[in-house]
Amino acid sequence: MVDRTTRIGSVSLPNPVMTASGTAGHGAEFQSFFDLADLGAHVVKSVAAFEWAGNPAPRVHPAGVGMINAVGLQGPGVSAWLADDLPALTACGARVVVSIWGRSVDDYARAAELLGAVRAAEVVAVEVNLSCPNLEGRRGIFAHDPEMSAAVIAASAACGRPVWAKLSANTDRVVEVAGAVRQAGAEAVTLINTLLGMVIDPETRRPVLGAGGGGYSGLPIHPVAVRTVFDVHAALPDLPIIGVGGVANGLGAVELMLAGASAVQVGTANFVDPRASIRVLDGLTEWCARHGVDSVADLVGAAH
Ligand SMILES: Cc1cc2nc3c(=O)[nH]c(=O)nc-3n(C[C@H](O)[C@H](O)[C@H](O)COP(=O)(O)O)c2cc1C
Repeated sequence: MVDRTTRIGSVSLPNPVMTASGTAGHGAEFQSFFDLADLGAHVVKSVAAFEWAGNPAPRVHPAGVGMINAVGLQGPGVSAWLADDLPALTACGARVVVSIWGRSVDDYARAAELLGAVRAAEVVAVEVNLSCPNLEGRRGIFAHDPEMSAAVIAASAACGRPVWAKLSANTDRVVEVAGAVRQAGAEAVTLINTLLGMVIDPETRRPVLGAGGGGYSGLPIHPVAVRTVFDVHAALPDLPIIGVGGVANGLGAVELMLAGASAVQVGTANFVDPRASIRVLDGLTEWCARHGVDSVADLVGAAH
């Protein structure tokens, strides 16, 4: 028997495998494929304080063995999510992680306040998606800037739940940003979001995605995720990490945990097989059993 329990700051989970935000619905859509309560946690697509229509189609496109997307954070807004999506998640007993996004520090604060007003017990953590363009005077992405990232995390405390900061590997400052968000109150960091990319159709001579550029994900970004987790764990060994990027089987999860992740998320693999996260959990468990690893926690950071 392998002990699969894991601890991420103040949050204890029965196992270390979760869905990744934006790849498994806003609510309980995946319950028709497997029991969401069997996962460590279910991370829903990022929601803002307001309803948002997202980008023009096409929004997703294959890119080699990976995938590129510019969905543009379409969502119903936190209030509608609480009313329409949370009840189904509650009914299936999932441990829910809500991801929030915004374009300004105030947007994040409002999303967090709306969640804080409800404080649903099944919401075990709030993952703050910092990989959004920041319109707060400075151009760029929140997660590329330690001060802006820290300001967003401080504002997100209003949710009254453990806060995880989802960071980007599109910067060489990720270790600095991780330190800044921890100082600002994040209990953990989620590494990594998609990498900036673009696919051009030679026939039309135009980008294939409606928004032009997009975020690259899937198997090819796995080594980038491993490196980012490794570097952050080396610099900040006490900061819990949730590793994400190109995990499609148990070995991918093992690798991220050896690099320093206490848990992993499964994203693009869900588009190939919606049961991918359960397969990853089974593969991780089998790998541990075969290698005499009694507890998945023993893997965390063992590559250092
Ligand atoms: C179609 C799509 C939509 C996504 N939407 C979100 C989102 O709303 N919020 C977020 O934090 N990450 C979002 N992501 C990023 C994933 O959660 C994940 O960080 C990234 O895809 C890397 O993991 P993967 O290679 O397993 O997909 C999205 C990814 C994809 C492919």
